[in-house]
Amino acid sequence: MKIAIMGAMLEEVDPFLESSEHEPLLRFFKKHSDTEYGSNLYHEAKYKDLDIVLSYSKIGKVNAALTAATMIEHFECDMLLFTGVAGAVSPDLKIGDLVAATQLCQHDLDITAFGHPHGYVPEGKVYVEPSRELLHIAKAVADEKNITLKKGIIATGDQFIADPERKEWIAKTFDADAIEMEGASVAVVCDAFDVPFFVLRAISDAADMDAAFDFDEFLKHSAKVSSSFIMAMLEKIISKQVQ
Ligand code: ADE
Repeated sequence: MKIAIMGAMLEEVDPFLESSEHEPLLRFFKKHSDTEYGSNLYHEAKYKDLDIVLSYSKIGKVNAALTAATMIEHFECDMLLFTGVAGAVSPDLKIGDLVAATQLCQHDLDITAFGHPHGYVPEGKVYVEPSRELLHIAKAVADEKNITLKKGIIATGDQFIADPERKEWIAKTFDADAIEMEGASVAVVCDAFDVPFFVLRAISDAADMDAAFDFDEFLKHSAKVSSSFIMAMLEKIISKQVQ
């Protein structure tokens, strides 16, 4: 099985890498090769019996869609795990909390002028759902390791939200729990290619007036929280394969 692991920013995948000045070395994985493709770097590696392709897309929906499609079509990944950080919309989510997406939507997709609901385009759907099996695996990992894993709706858009009014609007319109800038575009690509996927985020900020400051402060820590959980999921996936 070949598994894509992706984030949007270097900081989000860096916990998997031991960056040296000249070349990133894989910390957990046995390195196979690094390939530049479509202006991005893809690390191919082995972790126990799993083939891994690791990359960060750069920020935003278009970059993330390009990377997800490349992981699937060019590198032939069978499954995609997304790791990274998000802004909290739900007051129940605090900095450092882990949230697994149960549904993903695009809060900035708007053809309401034609009578369609927010986040909808013809032949599409407002909410895309990740793999149930991967959500079960995540729950099993959280239970075994006594980690609090929250689940919720993640809203994606090409905007860093640092505005309580916009945040409220997204909460109300999409019933969203967290916001970020890539998840739903990855979801659309994986759904289109019928590739099971999972989107995990650790909260870095509350999408409020302090969001930019908090993001800078907590990006690295929250990215590590998310990537550590993804590592534990890989172990679980391996143990399930062996059974
Ligand atoms: N990712 C992390 N925090 C975010 C925010 N406030 N808005 C959009 N994406 C984010």
